[in-house]
Amino acid sequence: MTKLGVNVDHVATLRQARRTYEPDPVTAASLADLGGADIITIHLREDRRHIHERDLKLLRQTVFTKLNLEMSVADEIVELALAEQPAQVTFVPEKREEVTTEGGLDVVSQAKVLGPLIKRFREKNITVSLFIDPEARQIQASRDAGAEFVELHTGAFANATTEAQQLDMLEKLRSGAGLSRELGLRVNAGHGLTYKNVGPIVEKIGAEELHIGHSIISRAVFVGIKKAVEEMKELIYKHSIMAKTGG
Ligand code: PXP
Repeated sequence: MTKLGVNVDHVATLRQARRTYEPDPVTAASLADLGGADIITIHLREDRRHIHERDLKLLRQTVFTKLNLEMSVADEIVELALAEQPAQVTFVPEKREEVTTEGGLDVVSQAKVLGPLIKRFREKNITVSLFIDPEARQIQASRDAGAEFVELHTGAFANATTEAQQLDMLEKLRSGAGLSRELGLRVNAGHGLTYKNVGPIVEKIGAEELHIGHSIISRAVFVGIKKAVEEMKELIYKHSIMAKTGG
């Protein structure tokens, strides 16, 4: 069965909106684990907009399933990742101005950088995945660079506005997954997947792992908001009574 990697970056985004201690992505990871997450995914971005070193270090100690670290090829991030040794790293392109990871990694033009880097990670028994668009030349280059996995970018499928476009993107992902396997690569997929669009991806791509963040964390806000308000109301009520009765 396809495994689920839960990306908890968005919990850290909320924390960083106030630069406080809550909500803690480490707690989110424990709860995701209780819910059956097979993998916890985080992206330590160069600008530290959400996940920080502290989160990586604590998750490294507390995730007993599999920790997947999304990362750029920046030296500082590479050294941190090699020191912390998550079970898996996924190389992604990173631009400061983007809201989220936009396109896939251009493995073809970055082969000279990626090849030796992948070797360093694999020597430490860290699984390496490359986040790429489902294009034959990127898949081929990923195999040549020595990656074990590719994570096929499902963003264009998720953003398709017509059924025809969606089917077209699904077919590209399906054939990309097929080619990857023919070349001996293992296949993951992710980005922009939701409760509404995950079905065909599971059925047609047969990925080993799906990495999903925004939609799960968004839903968590709504399935939890009623209880959170009830708890605050209860607390206010309790203290109102205490104020009236003198404690
Ligand atoms: N996979 C990769 C490589 C990503 O960069 C992201 C976004 O951090 C995801 C999966 C998850 O995407 P989403 O938050 O849209 O589910």
